[in-house]
Amino acid sequence: MSINNKALSTYRLLKATAEVAEQSLEGRIQHYRAHLKTDEKELRTYTQKAAADLLGCNNRTLKRRHDQGDFDHLHIQKGANGHYAYTLANIFSMADILGVAADQRKSTDKLQVIVINSLKGGCGKTTSLVNIAAALATTNIKRYRIGIIDLDPQGSSSSFFPANDPEPITVGDLMRDCIELDQDESWSDVVTNAFKETHIPNIRVLPSGMDDFYFEHETATELKESSSYDQTRHYHKLLERVITPVESQFDIILIDTAPSLNFMFYNALMASTAMLIPVHPEAVDFDANNKYLKRLGEIYHTVAALGHEGWDFMQFLVTNYVKGNHSQRDIVKDVRSAFGRQVMSYPINHSSAITASSSSFNTIFDQKTSDSLASRESLVKSQENIKDVVDELEMLIRSNWLSTQSSLGQ
Ligand SMILES: Nc1ncnc2c1ncn2[C@@H]1O[C@H](COP(=O)(O)OP(=O)(O)OP(=O)(O)O)[C@@H](O)[C@H]1O
Ligand SMILES: [Mg+2]
Repeated sequence: MSINNKALSTYRLLKATAEVAEQSLEGRIQHYRAHLKTDEKELRTYTQKAAADLLGCNNRTLKRRHDQGDFDHLHIQKGANGHYAYTLANIFSMADILGVAADQRKSTDKLQVIVINSLKGGCGKTTSLVNIAAALATTNIKRYRIGIIDLDPQGSSSSFFPANDPEPITVGDLMRDCIELDQDESWSDVVTNAFKETHIPNIRVLPSGMDDFYFEHETATELKESSSYDQTRHYHKLLERVITPVESQFDIILIDTAPSLNFMFYNALMASTAMLIPVHPEAVDFDANNKYLKRLGEIYHTVAALGHEGWDFMQFLVTNYVKGNHSQRDIVKDVRSAFGRQVMSYPINHSSAITASSSSFNTIFDQKTSDSLASRESLVKSQENIKDVVDELEMLIRSNWLSTQSSLGQ
């Protein structure tokens, strides 16, 4: 087959562009790697008052227990002002000492695997996910065990929760079966170790990497050559193969996705127990969202035919909502009248604190008010807002756990 001259010059142009892109990518990867330096990222510390609030006791109780030496073995550091600066890990250990029980799911309660997806790029998937995860983990003493799976090879949510490893195993490595097991090593060991500890004690992340892009091409090739139901099903259940061995290690798994209905997304759907769809309330975005929903139904049909058991909930979450903006308010009204109770009661509001934190890959719960680039007022407001969203999400989650249903009066 011959290629005409114009096609040849287009090809040359693309090759030159690819070289520039590769150099630029290399630069970005190095920048990204710099963020992965473990000692760079630390969760904020808490004052005694904040620790007491989390633990549900008062300052005096903590002071007395300090005086009795009950916390001595925790070696709690003091800040420059001479006061205790508690880490969240300290506070969790203190909870154990004080007999404040963790409030996690029981083994009979179903692991919640919540996928965050929309076909609309930039609608707030990653921002919502990382801040929701941080709020669930740091604003209560329940000690939820949270897993984050970054199914977007762009790696945005991995950057907010950098793994303590410069070359971590990625979710794509596991799904593509790139890992050779050592002697005496099981698949379950490999997967367990691939979920890396993060700067937040009870959040572990399974990161993505640039090579995860290959998953799409490889899967398309494999599926083209396979015609049997079993093989098709296999390629849609690769993420489940990753989640099953670590099921008992988590209460909630949050999955971030690319703005795409690709094979990774099909896998996320197969593994999911619930779905969260961010909606940015701009006219163009809302229209795109409606088109996406039409496609989602068709895709879900495939997934259901391959054996998916149905969602416990599917909710829309209005994101990046500018209060006082009339056109956004009208769109939110439309969203609510169209989807009713499937829309979360609170939107995630646009916030300068979120903008400021995100620019350094921080959630709004990572930093103390004094360390944040945003004003104290904006940070506190935004934290309250995310907590309201998370309270509702927690209700939805816990209503699916048999052990907590009765306490919710259901
Ligand atoms: N509530 C908010 N307040 C301020 N900025 C926000 C808010 N939500 C999202 N943003 C900003 O909007 C941009 C897009 O958000 P984000 O990266 O979360 O979208 P996304 O849906 O994950 O994008 P992609 O489709 O590329 O993965 C980011 O710059 C983010 O900081
Ligand atoms: Mg994203």
